[in-house]
Amino acid sequence: MSHALSQDAIHQLFDNARTHNAWLDKPVDPALLHTLYEHVKFGPTAANCCPLRIVFVTSPAAKERLLACMSPGNVEKTRNAPVTAILAHDTAFHEQLPKLFPHADAKSWYDGNDAKIARDGLTNAWLQAGYFIMAARALGLDCGPMGGFDAAQVNAAFFPDGKWAADIVCNLGYGDVSKLFPRNPRLSFEEACRIA
Ligand SMILES: Cc1cc2nc3c(=O)[nH]c(=O)nc-3n(C[C@H](O)[C@H](O)[C@H](O)COP(=O)(O)O)c2cc1C
Repeated sequence: MSHALSQDAIHQLFDNARTHNAWLDKPVDPALLHTLYEHVKFGPTAANCCPLRIVFVTSPAAKERLLACMSPGNVEKTRNAPVTAILAHDTAFHEQLPKLFPHADAKSWYDGNDAKIARDGLTNAWLQAGYFIMAARALGLDCGPMGGFDAAQVNAAFFPDGKWAADIVCNLGYGDVSKLFPRNPRLSFEEACRIA
């Protein structure tokens, strides 16, 4: 049976974790990117479809290509981040279902149903993006997720064969807490929840 994490761990994952825009001059060990994925991959998805695909942008040349796709307000924070992850989804993720969900013919649920492929690919990859942020925080990394970029430009620059499609760009590194904005309020339980 699982047990509750320590208060320290819960605070690191949620209550004290922030979205970072400024980064310490401290590299991210490439081995940590592998460890990160090894945790992300176990988050649940519909029929275990695992549509998330990730490009970890670390080289200066790839970073320059990505910067050209970012909204003006996201350029400097992305330039300064030691790693920037392009979180994408595989537009033909269902091809992997015979491997990922072998006890049922799940691929046939998708074959010929482009609307279901598009919806489930996108929604499950976004779900996995949430796991990505939480796994990064669990490993002591900070994140700066961004929707402010030109997806068509990112797709042309990084996925010219059209198989993967960019959803979120997420800076990764060790955040500079001295540069944080004040935390914005959240909705209360009463505002956001009902017990039925
Ligand atoms: C999907 C997504 C897209 C976002 N897009 C941007 C963005 O384009 N630029 C930016 O500066 N912040 C962006 N943010 C950051 C949010 O504004 C930030 O996570 C939110 O205000 C909560 O901040 P906090 O974690 O510090 O409390 C994005 C966050 C998410 C999850």
